[in-house]
Amino acid sequence: MCQCCNAAETKTKEALELEKVFNKFAGKKGALIPVLQAAQEIYGYLPAEVLKEISANLQIPLSKIYGVVTFYAQFHLKPRGRNIIRVCLGTACHVRGGAKVAEAVTKAVGIKDGETSEDLRYTFESVACLGACGLAPVMMVNDDTHGRLTPDMVAGLLEQYK
Ligand code: FES
Repeated sequence: MCQCCNAAETKTKEALELEKVFNKFAGKKGALIPVLQAAQEIYGYLPAEVLKEISANLQIPLSKIYGVVTFYAQFHLKPRGRNIIRVCLGTACHVRGGAKVAEAVTKAVGIKDGETSEDLRYTFESVACLGACGLAPVMMVNDDTHGRLTPDMVAGLLEQYK
């Protein structure tokens, strides 16, 4: 209940989830990384307001939090697509046409490496190895591995991910 006008506070589902995370880690050392991971799980990325809340709650300067978030590739400051496309450009995939697969992704969904489509349907990232070199060239979409790709297979595959 709001102190000044007695109106019921309307917290978003995400804010309530974040509160639970704060409670779980209250007073614990080394809480920053797990709290950031949990917050990213809740919001899909780390919005600036959420980082401010984390700073206030854990009593860690915001500048330090930004330092951590920008250091680790696992954290994202911008919204990400519902479908994460990872195209491998590691050695095995490179020699078998990984770059052509990456080009086909850009052609199919209109975004380049590192970008997210405006409708948040896709995020496209290149990676150094997906651990499936025997299937080169390889692309993952979310948790699905697609191997032995040719560029002309890409558009049809991506179309399945809404
Ligand atoms: S180099 Fe592409 S999966 Fe290993």
